Amino acid sequence: MMNILILGANGKIARQAEKLFLKETNDNLVYFLRNSKRLANQASERVTVIEGDATKANQIADAITKYHIDTVYANLAGPMEKFAQEIIKAMEVTDLKKLIFIASLGVHDEVPGKFGEWNNRELKDYLPPYKTAVKLITASNLNYVIIRPAWLTDKDEIDYEITNTGEPFKGTEVSRKSVASFVVKASHSSEYDRQDIGLNKPNTDGDKPSFM
Ligand SMILES: NC(=O)c1ccc[n+]([C@@H]2O[C@H](COP(=O)([O-])OP(=O)(O)OC[C@H]3O[C@@H](n4cnc5c(N)ncnc54)[C@H](OP(=O)(O)O)[C@@H]3O)[C@@H](O)[C@H]2O)c1
Repeated sequence: MMNILILGANGKIARQAEKLFLKETNDNLVYFLRNSKRLANQASERVTVIEGDATKANQIADAITKYHIDTVYANLAGPMEKFAQEIIKAMEVTDLKKLIFIASLGVHDEVPGKFGEWNNRELKDYLPPYKTAVKLITASNLNYVIIRPAWLTDKDEIDYEITNTGEPFKGTEVSRKSVASFVVKASHSSEYDRQDIGLNKPNTDGDKPSFM
């Protein structure tokens, strides 16, 4: 049993991961989010819901200490570089090591071919802060697992393969439920520690995702 702090707990992948953590593990979960009233009805013996801003290291550190957190799972969108800085600061000050961090495909220019060109064009303004966040985390002493999902779908399926750092990215899409499933797996294993993993649905190669 572990205590998991979920930053951005109302995010779409996070909501899927929360269901899986509750179903498949005995972990206790702390939902850290802005406007926490939105998830207040989820509180239970295993779930604590707290108000928090992930751009504030002191708020993250307070939650880590108060709830005896073993793993931070960051499911955030917004100022990614700032999030990375503040999470690292909070984890260093509390001497916590394990971080699962959702980033994006394309941060290493690892997406090959026509899809890679299309992806770079589409994500031109979106990728730079993700790239910096990933650089900051990989340069830290944390036991991170960075996840680089393909284009996300809300399909009700768990079906994925992984690529490692330095390998060309495969496929074009992956379901949020698949990413959530990998988050639960990586939380309970040291197999992916200090790795930066691409996630895609097998056999979805193409010039762009099928739904675009
Ligand atoms: N769409 C794609 O195809 C794709 C592909 C690869 C990667 N990604 C990335 O994967 C990540 C997760 O995806 P998702 O679908 O789960 O995203 P999401 O639903 O947008 O969730 C992100 C969460 O971050 C929270 N957040 C933003 N600023 C915050 C702050 N200061 N403090 C606390 N929480 C804050 C948001 O909270 P509020 O509810 O309060 O706004 C939101 O719930 C995102 O970074 C996304 O860009 C997306």
